[in-house]
Amino acid sequence: MKDFDDREERVGKLKGLGCARKRVEDARFTQGKGNYVDDVKLPGMLFGDFVRSPYAHARIKSIDATAALELPGVIAVLTAEDLKPLNLHWMPTLAGDKQMVLADGKVLFQGQEVAFVVAEDRYIAADAIELVEVDYEDLPVIVDPFEALTTDVVLREDLDTSEPGAHGPRKHHNHIFLWEEGDKTATEQAIESSEVVAEEMVYYHRTHPCPLETCGCVASMDKVNGKLTLWGTFQAPHVVRTVASLLSGIAEHDIRVISPDIGGGFGNKVGVYPGYVCAIVASIVTGKPVKWIEDRMDNLMATAFARDYWMKGRISATKEGKITGLHCHVTADHGAFDACADPTKFPAGFFHICTGSYDIPVAYVGVDGVYTNKAPGGVAYRCSFRVTEAAYFIERMIEVLAIELNMDAAELRRINFIRADQFPYHSALGWEYDSGDYHTAWDKALAAVDYEGLRKEQAERVEAFKRGETRTLLGIGLTHFTEIVGAGPVKNCDILGMGMFDSCEIRIHPTGSATARLGTISQGQGHATTFGQILASEIGISSDNITIEEGDTDTAPYGLGTYGSRSTPVAGAAAAMAGRKIRAKAQMIAAYLLEVHDGDLEWDIDRFVVKGAPDRFKTMTEIAYAAYNQAIPGLEPGLEAVSYYDPPNMTYPFGAYICVMEIDVDTGEHKIRQFYALDDCGTRINPMVIEGQVHGGLTEALAIAMGQEIAYDDLGNCKTGTLMDFFLPTAVETPHYTTDHTETPSPHHPIGAKGVGESPNVGGVPAFSNAVHDAFRAFGLRQSHMPHDHWRVWKIAHDLGL
Ligand code: CDP
Repeated sequence: MKDFDDREERVGKLKGLGCARKRVEDARFTQGKGNYVDDVKLPGMLFGDFVRSPYAHARIKSIDATAALELPGVIAVLTAEDLKPLNLHWMPTLAGDKQMVLADGKVLFQGQEVAFVVAEDRYIAADAIELVEVDYEDLPVIVDPFEALTTDVVLREDLDTSEPGAHGPRKHHNHIFLWEEGDKTATEQAIESSEVVAEEMVYYHRTHPCPLETCGCVASMDKVNGKLTLWGTFQAPHVVRTVASLLSGIAEHDIRVISPDIGGGFGNKVGVYPGYVCAIVASIVTGKPVKWIEDRMDNLMATAFARDYWMKGRISATKEGKITGLHCHVTADHGAFDACADPTKFPAGFFHICTGSYDIPVAYVGVDGVYTNKAPGGVAYRCSFRVTEAAYFIERMIEVLAIELNMDAAELRRINFIRADQFPYHSALGWEYDSGDYHTAWDKALAAVDYEGLRKEQAERVEAFKRGETRTLLGIGLTHFTEIVGAGPVKNCDILGMGMFDSCEIRIHPTGSATARLGTISQGQGHATTFGQILASEIGISSDNITIEEGDTDTAPYGLGTYGSRSTPVAGAAAAMAGRKIRAKAQMIAAYLLEVHDGDLEWDIDRFVVKGAPDRFKTMTEIAYAAYNQAIPGLEPGLEAVSYYDPPNMTYPFGAYICVMEIDVDTGEHKIRQFYALDDCGTRINPMVIEGQVHGGLTEALAIAMGQEIAYDDLGNCKTGTLMDFFLPTAVETPHYTTDHTETPSPHHPIGAKGVGESPNVGGVPAFSNAVHDAFRAFGLRQSHMPHDHWRVWKIAHDLGL
């Protein structure tokens, strides 16, 4: 019993895998001691701000900065003409296109960067931008991607659009690419010969990640030693360093990129923005540090939007509901420049996960990317490169098919789920799903909400409504999503040619504590807490004694950064593998100290024990000390390891979400009565952090589904450039969530973990949206586009004659 207690205590002290360890970051954050980019204050620092275009499409006839330069405190006004000699007036995008840094001859979206004012303080810079006189000649504006493909108006005059783009031939001067996956002929044949076919246009509107902290940077060029230091809100600091080196010609070792604390990223902080380039140039020109921080309007109007996919679907089935084929064509509005943040080979990201959780024998996807007069972007807003669009598409198509079949949508899902014994499962669109047990998760979810009882109540409500006894309907929003997270592998995935591996380096100190550095960067996900837990379980040192560092390219090993829930699947695996290297060396040291053969030892929580002799052991603390103070024959001193991990496959988290919603037919208002979220992210590192991730992601999903959008008028004016118009939920709108889980480990991840951060956004949106649709199903609603704000929901009821 004593030994058992002792082991329990040791496991407890470790605070390793599975422990709901409190977030170590929060002591700082809750006391206002975070260190964000805007907290970086350097002697002599200047401030930059942009003159932005009020027009969505216009030729620039002239720019006159005379009055601005006369304002006391203004140091410089940069235009494209100033950047041309440096060849920095355009920059490459992550998607193989190029983008103006400052307007070169014309502007292509409202809010586009036209000139960069550098001043002694931020207020002077803001005043000066008003004094820069720009003479515009407006041009016809194209905001509709379908019109963009037929109009004579040429948006990108800089391109020879008769030539193929980065992703193949173009059909039209405003066409970017057609990307296809799957067997088109076989899919069309399967659909045409099927008993039941459902067809629908599903639109996932344009929205924005809108992190609380906007994008920004401080560039500081030290002309004496030739070193450039760049602090910024970067989700991928090493990639930014590489890009900065390639663009500026400054050797990579002379550039230090630091991502300090980041107040939310959600994909918004992956790309390279004109502000970074201008701040660097301004610092080189002036010899002083230059800070650029977006305001909220800049952020919403100009930096990376998300979604904007028009998805035309056809799904077919037998009369009994067994799906026989899926066809999807997407018209993707990429805005003025193709600046999507996707791995190079995937211009539509991982959209072809759109067969979802279902065993669909044959499928085809074609995606047409299109230029319009809207802001560029198309970032992975809390999803792996278009997975959210994919999940929304298939989960809507399933609902539409259920209507066509006159079948219960839960049952339709159940009979089409990939079975547990089919994993690893090869999807018709080329993915290999690593593991899953969808039926178990689904049954658990349905039982948890008393699905049958809810359907009965819903039917009674419909009858009462018809009798005029109530004006409130009940919607049951079902979703079973399958995610794909953890890009690489390197052989398939790269960003600007950099393979998508990740890394961890560990140093064990003589007194038995450790410092670990990773190629990722937390933006609120709690990496300092959870990576420590992975290591604690691997190396037997309490996570309280392990410092996690990320985000400084001078110290952290090269990594591809944090987005698309890749930290756990890739860097988390690197941490485990680096930990195993430490343990392997520790075993040799312990064997020497205990005078036994390596193979005579076994690992036990925090120590190596001689097999069959439990009293003979060496703890990691003792081993760490020995590594630095004893000459051990055949072994180098010290205890350090580094791992660069190239994942063999992605991981495929999944989940079953159910939203129960009351809808007031007369006002369009909704009330979320219940939201049940079951997530399976394989091995769970920290249940409390997971719950936090799920809560946050669900609230983002609520926002997207129920009101949030980046909307334009016909002239290309962004109508939602402030938080007055762009819906960001507060505690008032946020409902209570019930979280749950199953645990199906990934077979290829060293600790079996899959990502979780983006799951609630991916799965939440269809759950909320399906609830709205489901409330009106009995009255004939089939498809209504998001966001389901009060007016649009009222309009559904009105149009249905309710
Ligand atoms: O890449 P990102 O950090 O955004 O996403 P993630 O890999 O899904 O991790 C988000 C947070 O959840 C991290 O703190 C992870 O360590 C934690 N997590 C966990 O505790 N268990 C999992 N199986 C997956 C993630």
